[in-house]
Amino acid sequence: MHKKGFIFDLDGVIVDTAKYHFLAWKKLAKTIGVDFSEAQNEQLKGVSRVSSLEKILEWGNKTLSDEDFTNLMSKKNEDYLSYIHKMNASEILPDVSKVLDFLINSKQGIALGSASKNATPILKKVHLLEKFEAIVDGNDVAKAKPDPEVFLIGAKLLGMNPEDCIVFEDSVAGVQAANTANMISIGIGEKSVLHEADFIFKDFTEMPQEFIEQIISGQINKQ
Ligand code: BG6
Ligand code: MG
Repeated sequence: MHKKGFIFDLDGVIVDTAKYHFLAWKKLAKTIGVDFSEAQNEQLKGVSRVSSLEKILEWGNKTLSDEDFTNLMSKKNEDYLSYIHKMNASEILPDVSKVLDFLINSKQGIALGSASKNATPILKKVHLLEKFEAIVDGNDVAKAKPDPEVFLIGAKLLGMNPEDCIVFEDSVAGVQAANTANMISIGIGEKSVLHEADFIFKDFTEMPQEFIEQIISGQINKQ
């Protein structure tokens, strides 16, 4: 029997939380007189909380004391938590549950590989936690995406070699991390943004079941 390890990013792949991160960062940036564009926001996807604030400060040409930096990060998180507090299963992105159930029925390894420190509470809110054999999130890694650490730990926990793993990602940093880990990278989102991925689908509704079957059987490989 063929077995692969499927590693899912969380924000923007499983749930539509990217919009909440954006709202919370935008609000915070405004309080320190920094505005940022949609294109810049794209660069914050997949990036850790610390690195995101560093980037925003860099774009706005601002510096902060360590204390102010820490305070702003917790402020952003409080604001973000106020959005995710209201989340429920209706915010699971289209066909995610279908794909997870197909993989479970096909006896595949399933892990989460997220930069977020809020991953477990979010998965609980949307009732998906029990679908994952392994959870690797922002609390478990020393190096943020595009470093491959998060996915390499995920592969290890699944007992799989990196080359037998497949990563679903909506961010450029995450696709780069998967590629560096030598895993098949599947971009979920826009081709114009995620062109470094081995395969790209707008969302899971566009990904045919035969595609997953062929990945499992080894007929489809890293590009
Ligand atoms: C990633 C998001 O999944 O997690 C980023 O794409 C976010 O936007 C990062 O900054 C860290 O998340 P959190 O929940 O720990 O602030
Ligand atoms: Mg993401």
